[in-house]
Amino acid sequence: MPLVTSKDMFKKAYEGGYAIGAFNVNNMEIIQGITEAAKEENAPLILQVSAGARKYANHTYLVKLVEAAIHETGLPICLHLDHGDSFEQCKSCIDGGFTSVMIDGSHHSFEENIEVTKKVVEYAHARGVVVEAELGKLAGIEDAVNVSEKDAAFTDPNQVEEFVTKTGVDSLAIAIGTSHGAYKFKGAAQLRFDILEEIQKRLPGYPIVLHGASSVIPEYVDMINQFGGQMPGAKGVPEDMLRKAASMAVCKINIDSDLRLAMTATIRKYFAENPSHFDPRQYLGPARTAIKDLVRHKLVHVLGCSGKA
Ligand code: G3H
Ligand code: 13P
Ligand code: ZN
Repeated sequence: MPLVTSKDMFKKAYEGGYAIGAFNVNNMEIIQGITEAAKEENAPLILQVSAGARKYANHTYLVKLVEAAIHETGLPICLHLDHGDSFEQCKSCIDGGFTSVMIDGSHHSFEENIEVTKKVVEYAHARGVVVEAELGKLAGIEDAVNVSEKDAAFTDPNQVEEFVTKTGVDSLAIAIGTSHGAYKFKGAAQLRFDILEEIQKRLPGYPIVLHGASSVIPEYVDMINQFGGQMPGAKGVPEDMLRKAASMAVCKINIDSDLRLAMTATIRKYFAENPSHFDPRQYLGPARTAIKDLVRHKLVHVLGCSGKA
């Protein structure tokens, strides 16, 4: 089976009230851990590659590793550029075999965001590739920030119809309070489900994307701290909130930090218990298994996409 786009995946996910996991990949063990979990759960998958991942692992290596995963699993897998920052970067991934790209124009003005997104959409659609854009600014939105600044970062539901109509974009990432990384909330987690609901009303049937959606699983943070790490105050999006989002218009949930935590916690523990070992397979093997266990958990208990491939 060749790489697929996310079009059918999103249609079924929207109708079925679940979401597709979009997991960031940077090397072979991460790709193997994720795809082995998806195979066991018979789940559709989006594997996404950031600019940093392309720089670290090389575009061709990542494409070939993902192709190898399709060969091994027979699963529908979509290969997506995460946070593309320019038309050129998106073009390079489209020309290089990706089936989906994100153009992240969220740092531009509304008009410039429309302009660059439209340009990417025209190029991508002519080549059978789908496009995700972002409206609103995802950030570390904290309790301490005053309300007007805080609201300014959220996606404005009044803008979504115009944005989607003018650009023709296939899915939209929105800002409702999630943020990237392992330190998302100081106090209790808060997501603006009212904004999501309003956007869903304005764009019925249209797939919404949630970035910054790691739960920052406490067991892994504790393990990191137990074995010499220092991650006080790390906090993510509670799983019940993600399940709720998945039952609404959210069809794609982005997860990277949880994978990093699972891998790092496992490797820290391994070296604490086996200080004389030095064969990379001895610590990367358990790290790969930790990724697999984590992804199975997400597919079954958070995304609800087990059995949907
Ligand atoms: O949203 C960002 C992803 O977690 C990718 O992170 O740019 O460090 O690869 P990265
Ligand atoms: P996390 O940092 O919450 O895993 O978010 C990842 C992400 O949004 C990738 O685009
Ligand atoms: Zn993101």
